Amino acid sequence: MNKPTATDIIIFGAQGDLSQRKLLPSLYDLEKDHLLPEGSRVICLAREAIDTAKYCNTASINLQLHVEDDRYEQETLNRLLARITYIKLDFNTAEHYQDLAKMLNEKKDQQRLFYYATAAVFFGTISQKLAEFNCITKQCRVVLEKPLGFDRESSSTINDQVGLHFQEQQIYRIDHYLGKETVQNLLALRFANPIFGSQWNQSHISHVEITIAESVGIEGRWSYFDKAGQMRDMVQNHLLQLLALVAMDPPDDLSADSIRDQKVKVLKQLKPIAFNDQKQSVVCGQYDSGNNDVELLPGYNNEEGAQGTSSTETFVAIRAEIQNWRWAGVPFYLRTGKRMTEKLTQIVVHFKQQPHFIFDPEQRDIASNKLILSLQPNEGVSLQVQTKSPGINNDIQIQPTILDLNFNKEFKGTRTPHAYERLLFEVIKGNQYLFVRRDEIEHAWTWCDNIMQHWDKPEHILHKYPAGSWGPTESQIIIRNDKRKWFGDH
Ligand code: BG6
Repeated sequence: MNKPTATDIIIFGAQGDLSQRKLLPSLYDLEKDHLLPEGSRVICLAREAIDTAKYCNTASINLQLHVEDDRYEQETLNRLLARITYIKLDFNTAEHYQDLAKMLNEKKDQQRLFYYATAAVFFGTISQKLAEFNCITKQCRVVLEKPLGFDRESSSTINDQVGLHFQEQQIYRIDHYLGKETVQNLLALRFANPIFGSQWNQSHISHVEITIAESVGIEGRWSYFDKAGQMRDMVQNHLLQLLALVAMDPPDDLSADSIRDQKVKVLKQLKPIAFNDQKQSVVCGQYDSGNNDVELLPGYNNEEGAQGTSSTETFVAIRAEIQNWRWAGVPFYLRTGKRMTEKLTQIVVHFKQQPHFIFDPEQRDIASNKLILSLQPNEGVSLQVQTKSPGINNDIQIQPTILDLNFNKEFKGTRTPHAYERLLFEVIKGNQYLFVRRDEIEHAWTWCDNIMQHWDKPEHILHKYPAGSWGPTESQIIIRNDKRKWFGDH
């Protein structure tokens, strides 16, 4: 395991939402746990002409809002603020990079971590300017925030532009889902437990569901989201990363490339979905106004910042197939949407039924094992097994029973780090296994582009669903056609 060394953490877009809500709070948490190496500095860059004191003032207010109450304390805050320097930087202005270069040169040999928390269209310019002002050294790393491009072509262009100045081993492409505890637990569960390892294939698994449901809407990001949609915002990255981790072959070891080689294989083997098959396999939706338990929620086109009537999808359900020996004939039902009934991220692996059933034939349908991996709101793993209903009746009646491992209860007192906190720490240490390699991103885009290329045709339907629901009723079709239903029948 690499050891953390003193690092200059340079954040582009330091006044943005991501920096204020996720990056600074994550640095705070690392600071609190004394994980930021001695001598590390945090250099915050943004367009506004303010000084460090003013920046720190705003940062403190936001930290108080976004750090968990029981973690917040003045002493840690002071330590973090003491590391921060603010520099005004306009992406195209040479003299601003001179100011940055001057500061970096004060600690010439220090490891550098450039965090591009800006729109990806600027990644090329920033990289080129950093090179021009000799800010890129052998010891530096660059973190690229998602979404990386709009499609495969734009993503390749950005990768090329950054790749002109940074080697692939220096590039850390973020998918914050890879920083979540359960996602890493998936590796442990699959590859440290022979009981699952031996069953993880089409002989024993009938189908897999992956759901990422969000109760929130667009959260003031309408103009960004409207150009992206749920397919680019959630499927191309988070959902396909989860799918790749569930479906990949065992890596030879835990090194970044062993894991990523296996993930790439899965992404390459995803079966393209032809337009004629989309009716059975893809459902898009957009939320209309609706109620959650508390209030009346506006429809997507009436959200703050909405401009006109848009046909951008806020919900996607897909029946995916992986064309290889392990998964032949096993559908992966994927589903993600905004403004759904509740926040729920869950992977459900459905095992096949017994080949011969000796109990009440009426119970045959309930009698299969299910492995449920919960990522949100609570992290945990549970296994649905069949047991006998207690009692002295003559027939053995079976009933599904849950073997439950709730991480919060089981590991009481052990704090689960936030995704960004873990990921930042891994970059400081130089571990790339929780980051996405260029070819992974590009294969994921290829599969999604192929589906989306038909979405401007008149035959493409956008189904409305009420905010606060489980998405369009049509999303049931892709699973019901296979005589199945979503787990919990959502
Ligand atoms: C982001 C998307 O990547 O992930 C957001 O851009 C989405 O639209 C968010 O809300 C969901 O993340 P999480 O960790 O809350 O599930």
